[in-house]
Amino acid sequence: MKRAQTAAFLLVALLAAAEAEARREKGGDKACDTGWECSGSRFCCNGTITDYFKAHHFEELFPRRNDSIAHATGFWSYQAFIAAAAQFEPRGFGTTGGKDTGIKEVAAFLGHVGARTSCGKIYPDPLAWGLCYNREMSPDQSYYCDDSNELYRCVEGVRYYGRGAIPVYCHPELLEQNATIAFEAAIWRWMTPVKRRQPSAHDVFVGNWKPTKRDTVSKRYPGFGATMNIMYGDGHHICGRGFTDEMNVIISHYIYYLDLMGVNHESGRSLDCADQVVFNPSTKSSGS
Ligand SMILES: *[C@@H]1O[C@H](CO)[C@@H](O)[C@H](O)[C@H]1NC(C)=O
Ligand SMILES: *[C@@H]1O[C@H](CO)[C@@H](O)[C@H](O)[C@H]1NC(C)=O
Ligand SMILES: *[C@@H]1O[C@H](CO)[C@@H](O)[C@H](O)[C@H]1NC(C)=O
Repeated sequence: MKRAQTAAFLLVALLAAAEAEARREKGGDKACDTGWECSGSRFCCNGTITDYFKAHHFEELFPRRNDSIAHATGFWSYQAFIAAAAQFEPRGFGTTGGKDTGIKEVAAFLGHVGARTSCGKIYPDPLAWGLCYNREMSPDQSYYCDDSNELYRCVEGVRYYGRGAIPVYCHPELLEQNATIAFEAAIWRWMTPVKRRQPSAHDVFVGNWKPTKRDTVSKRYPGFGATMNIMYGDGHHICGRGFTDEMNVIISHYIYYLDLMGVNHESGRSLDCADQVVFNPSTKSSGS
C-alpha cells in the first residue's frame, strides 16, 4: 500500500503546487495567453512545447513502444504527454528561456523517462526502447512519503485539500491506466524540489539554481548531471560513482533525443555526475 499512498500524495501535492504557482504568477510579471496549452504566465510568452516538439518527434524518440515484446503497447501517446505538459508549461516547463532551452529541457526530461522505462538493454538499438513500460515512471517513488523526506513527509492535511478532482487522483492505479496522469506525475517530480535545501531538476537544468560554494566543492554544477543527482538521490547509486553503465545509459538517452530534435548538447562536466556528491545524502558522512 505504500506505493498507493505515495502516488496519491504526489498527485494531490501536484495540484496544490500548481495552484499556488498560478496565484503567484498573476500578481507578478506580464502574463501571456497562448491558449489552452499555456496561458496566464510570463513563461508562456516564450512559446509552447508544441511549437517545437511535434507528434513525429515523439514517434522518432519512442519507435518501439508498441513492439510485441513491449509491456505497455498502445499506452503512451504524444497527446498524453502534451496534455500533461500543459499543466506545467505555465510554471516554466519547456517554456523557460528560448526555444533551444525548451528543446533541451524536454529532451532531458524525456531522457530520464526513456532510460527508466526502457526494455532495450539487450536488443539492437538500445536507445529506441523508451516507454516500453508504464511502471516506475517517476524515478524513486519512495521519495514521496518516507522518513527521509523532509518536505513531503506524509502531509496529512494536503491529502484532503478540497477540490472536486481529487477523489479521482486518489486512485493511484490510474498511473498505470492513464498516460496523461502518469506523465503529470513524472513532470511534477521534475518540477518540484522533494527535499529541503534542494532545488528542482527543472531549476538546475534551466539555470535558475545558483550553486553555493559547497555545491561547487561537491562538483555539483547546473546542467543535466545535477538533474540525475536530484532525480535519483543516493538510493540508486547513479551519481558519485564514476562513469558507470547506469549513469551512462541515462546520458545516452538524453543525447540521442537531442540529436533527433536537432540540438547540440552542452559539453564538459555539467553533463555527467560521475564525481558529484549527492544532495542531502542520507548518511551524514558526506555533504552537510
Ligand atoms: C502506438 O500505438 C498508438 C496507439 O494505438 C498509436 O497511436 C501510435 O501511432 C503507435 N506508434 C507506434 C510507433 O507504433
Ligand atoms: C524568454 O526567452 C528569452 C530569449 O531567449 C529569455 O531571455 C527570457 O529569459 C525568457 N523568459 C522566460 C520567462 O523564460
Ligand atoms: C486521463 O486523465 C486525464 C486527466 O485527468 C483526463 O482528462 C482523461 O480523460 C483521462 N483519460 C482516460 C482515458 O480516462
